[in-house]
Amino acid sequence: MNTSSPATIVVAIDGPSGSGKSSTSRGVATRLGLRYLDTGAMFRAMTWWMLEQGVDVHDPAAVAAAAHAPVIRSGTDPQAPTISVDSRDVSAAIRGQQVTDSVSPVSSVPEVRARLLALQREIIGAGGIVVEGRDIGTVVAPDAPVKIYLTADPEARAVRRAAEVAGTDVLATRESLLSRDRIDSGRATAPLTMAEGAHHIDSTAYTLDEVIDQVVGLVDAVR
Ligand code: DC
Repeated sequence: MNTSSPATIVVAIDGPSGSGKSSTSRGVATRLGLRYLDTGAMFRAMTWWMLEQGVDVHDPAAVAAAAHAPVIRSGTDPQAPTISVDSRDVSAAIRGQQVTDSVSPVSSVPEVRARLLALQREIIGAGGIVVEGRDIGTVVAPDAPVKIYLTADPEARAVRRAAEVAGTDVLATRESLLSRDRIDSGRATAPLTMAEGAHHIDSTAYTLDEVIDQVVGLVDAVR
């Protein structure tokens, strides 16, 4: 049997935006006493810094040349995750529309991915962590004993995302999600795809607690 100690387990949760990855990952980590890493926040922090520095986010060579520079730090408490760039707290700034609109092209640049991959592996270290993103089960932690591919209908995803920011239009959010899906799934380096051995959970018809229960059940089965 495949057994993993609670102290070293890695739970990889991948899927498109709005599928419930963050709430599920934080809930699972809190219930199991594990750390939590939001790799999307790292790509957003990199994007925020590029915009702040005036780097043209649609110029892959310019993005690649700058990718080594920002110092990005992630706090891994699931109940109070933090993210900073060059010691500045950017947890609110990275959720803005300009970052959301620019994050997929920046994330497609191989130098950005290589830089953040090294940071992600450093944070994962010996394990004991739930990691969410797009390429965790395929690239970042392919040996993770529990891999989840979390999806939901585009309508459900748009309603959830729009509800996070007051006054957001659901239709516009749906278009923005689908446009990011296309870029994230179609890029050459580490595209969003279901990892080998991943459990596919479609969260459309489930409550958050029900999805957390399912993932915790899968973790309990391997340890
Ligand atoms: O999870 P999120 O919506 O905050 O992620 C923002 C973007 O970051 C997403 O559109 C693609 C990119 N991303 C990625 O390329 N690889 C990851 N592991 C996580 C996020």
